[in-house]
Amino acid sequence: MSTTDEKEQAVAEEEQTGDEEAAEEVSVEPVKPGTWRFLIPIAAFAVGFVSHLFVGWVIFPQLLYGKKQQPIDFNHKLHVEEMGECEGCHYFREDGTFAGIPTLASCLECHEEQVGEHPEEAKLIKEYVEPGKEIPWLVYSRQPQCVFFSHAAHVVKGEMECTTCHGPVGDSDHTKPYYFNRLTKYSRDIWGSNPAGYKKHTWDRMKMDDCAECHEEKTGHQGACFQCHK
Ligand code: HEC
Ligand code: HEC
Ligand code: HEC
Ligand code: HEC
Ligand code: HEC
Repeated sequence: MSTTDEKEQAVAEEEQTGDEEAAEEVSVEPVKPGTWRFLIPIAAFAVGFVSHLFVGWVIFPQLLYGKKQQPIDFNHKLHVEEMGECEGCHYFREDGTFAGIPTLASCLECHEEQVGEHPEEAKLIKEYVEPGKEIPWLVYSRQPQCVFFSHAAHVVKGEMECTTCHGPVGDSDHTKPYYFNRLTKYSRDIWGSNPAGYKKHTWDRMKMDDCAECHEEKTGHQGACFQCHK
C-alpha cells in the first residue's frame, strides 16, 4: 500500500464519518418546527382581532360616552302604585301638548314635608322642596334640537303604549344612569347602547331610521323631511 492510498483511504473514512455526523444532525433536528410555524400568522391575527374588538367594543364606547346620575333616584314602581296611573304625572294639557316630566309642584302634593325615612326623600326636601328649586332631570330620550316630535300624534291619535318607545320605565324602582355621547352631547338612548347596532326591542334606540321604519309600516310612507325637522 502506497502512502497516497493510505491518505485517500483516511480522507474517504473521514468524509464518511463526516457524512454520518451530518446525516445524524439532520435526522436529529426535529421536523416539528414547520408544523407550528404556520400557526404564527393565525395567532397574530387572533390576538390582533380580539384586541381590536376589545378596543372597539369595550374601550371606545367607554371613552365616547360620559355618565351622569339623575339628581334624585326616582322610584317609578312605588309612585305608579301610589297614584294608580301614569297620567297623574305625565298628562296632556288642554291645548293637546304633553306635559313631559312633572314639575316640583306635583311632588309637593305629597312631599311638602317628609313622609317617610328614605335618604333620597330627605335629599328631595333639603335640596329642592325647601329652596323651591326645580329638579334638573336628565331626559334619556331627548332628541337633537332640529327634531320635532309630538306625543299627542303618537299616544292620542296613534294610540301607542309608552313602552313601545321608552321600555318598561313604569316598573323600575331606580333611575338608570344617563349616558351621553361626549362629541355630540346626545343621550346614548338615541343611537342605542349596542356597538353593533343590534336591536332587540322597539325601545333599544330611537334614531331617524327607527322613526322612519315605523312610519313606513304604519302609514305606508316615511314622510317628508320637514315632518320631523324644524
Ligand atoms: C301621591 C303622592 C305622591 C306624589 C305626588 C309624589 N310622591 Fe314621592 N313618595 C310618595 C310615598 C307615599 C312615598 C313613600 C314614602 C315612604 O314610606 O318612605 C314616596 C317616596 C319618595 C321618595 C323616596 C324614595 C323611595 O324609594 O321611597 C322619593 C325620592 C320621592 N318620593 C320623590 C318624589 C318626587 C321627585 C315626586 C314628584 C315628581 C314625588 N315623589 C311625588 C308619594 C308621592
Ligand atoms: C309621581 C309621578 C310619576 C308617575 C305616576 C309616573 N312618572 Fe314617569 N317620570 C316621573 C319623573 C319625576 C321622571 C323623571 C325621572 C326619571 O327619569 O325617572 C319621569 C320620567 C319618565 C320617563 C323618562 C323619559 C325620558 O326619556 O327621560 C318615562 C318614559 C316615564 N316617566 C314613563 C312613565 C310611565 C309609563 C308611567 C306609568 C306606568 C309613569 N312614568 C308614571 C314621574 C312620574
Ligand atoms: C312613538 C314613540 C313614543 C311614545 C309612544 C311615547 N314617547 Fe315619550 N318620548 C318620545 C320621544 C322621541 C321623546 C323625546 C322628545 C324630544 O326630545 O323632543 C320623548 C320624551 C318623553 C318624556 C320627557 C320629555 C319631556 O318633554 O320632558 C317623557 C316624560 C315621556 N316621553 C313620557 C312618555 C309617556 C308617559 C308615554 C306614554 C303615555 C310616552 N312618553 C310615549 C317618544 C315616545
Ligand atoms: C312605533 C311607531 C312609531 C315610531 C317609533 C315613531 N312614530 Fe311618528 N308616527 C307614527 C304614526 C302611526 C303616526 C301617525 C299618527 C296619526 O296621525 O294617526 C306618526 C306621526 C308622526 C308625526 C306627524 C305628527 C302630526 O301632527 O301629523 C311626526 C312629526 C312624527 N310621527 C315624528 C316621529 C319621530 C321624530 C319619531 C322618532 C323619534 C317617531 N315619529 C317615531 C308612528 C311612529
Ligand atoms: C320620521 C322622522 C324623520 C324624517 C321624515 C326625517 N328625519 Fe332626519 N332625523 C330624525 C331624527 C329623530 C334624527 C336624530 C336622530 C339621529 O341622528 O338619527 C334625525 C337626524 C337627522 C340629521 C342629523 C342631524 C344631527 O344633528 O345629528 C340629518 C342631517 C337629517 N336627519 C336629515 C334628514 C333629511 C335630509 C330628511 C329627508 C330626506 C330627514 N332627515 C327626514 C327624524 C327624521
